Amino acid sequence: MAQGQNDHSNASMVEARKLYDLAGLTSIVTGSSRGIGAGIALELARRGANVVVNYTSPKSQEAAESIVSTIEGCGSGARAIAIQANIVTAAGQNKVVEAALELSENTSINILVHNAGNGDDCFLPDVTEDFYEMQTDLNVKAPIFLTQKVIPHMPRGGRIVLVSSCSARMGVAQQTVYAASKASNESFSRVWATELGQSKGITVNCVNPGPVATDGYFSSTQEFLDDLKPLIDSTPAEARVGEVRDVAPVVGFLASEESRWVTGSTISACGGLLFF
Ligand SMILES: NC(=O)c1ccc[n+]([C@@H]2O[C@H](COP(=O)([O-])OP(=O)(O)OC[C@H]3O[C@@H](n4cnc5c(N)ncnc54)[C@H](OP(=O)(O)O)[C@@H]3O)[C@@H](O)[C@H]2O)c1
Repeated sequence: MAQGQNDHSNASMVEARKLYDLAGLTSIVTGSSRGIGAGIALELARRGANVVVNYTSPKSQEAAESIVSTIEGCGSGARAIAIQANIVTAAGQNKVVEAALELSENTSINILVHNAGNGDDCFLPDVTEDFYEMQTDLNVKAPIFLTQKVIPHMPRGGRIVLVSSCSARMGVAQQTVYAASKASNESFSRVWATELGQSKGITVNCVNPGPVATDGYFSSTQEFLDDLKPLIDSTPAEARVGEVRDVAPVVGFLASEESRWVTGSTISACGGLLFF
């Protein structure tokens, strides 16, 4: 490569790495009142993006509003709104889309993070149709129909990130429905990367955490947590459960311009518990 070209490319890289690289963009992070979603909302806001902080349970209102205050005080200029909406329903999906359009300065939704998920454990003989529907409604149906509603408002350069789980590939007991539903998120990233790539300029990727210290994780049965202990002790990066701060920056990268050449991928964010 000629010297001049190299200089030009270095200069563009410096330019691309602006401090607030998501400034002026608007995002939706489902299930962001607490846990991994709250961390992702703060990460996107730290980079300058406006954020719809979504939750469903009335008891999480205070937590969601506290995330909004933290975002608006973080110094990046990001704005946020807390929206109570069950994203399994069409009405809930419309509510978060409308909130994002109001938050945006140019009625665009640039970043969509499908984070809300249910990971309740259940041995195969105990799986009921109600349990199946509850878990697949949130983990499979909601991302499909929310994405459908967001796409008409997502300009080129848009980013969709699905928070799946290493469980999609591990074969952990009690995860018949969870593992299958999280595997669907990986499939969505590949199919949507194809459907929304050249035609719409949108990238779609999946991030798979291993165990992360959140309310969701600690609501697992003691039996389940005990079963995972040897696995956690053997985690290559460090013998510990993951933390929200280990996962959120990976989503931040996938939401940024810098990830433009990554699409249809699944990134393992689990300290090497599972290589892929
Ligand atoms: N923690 C882990 O070990 C782990 C590992 C791998 C993957 N994951 C995945 O990471 C994601 C986040 O997990 P987490 O442990 O941080 O979850 P969490 O602590 O259980 O928090 C769940 C979040 O989702 C929201 N939510 C639940 N149902 C919803 C609905 N119907 N509509 C809108 N929001 C809803 C909750 O809102 P409320 O506060 O109102 O209830 C809350 O904000 C999930 O997809 C999970 O499968 C987690």
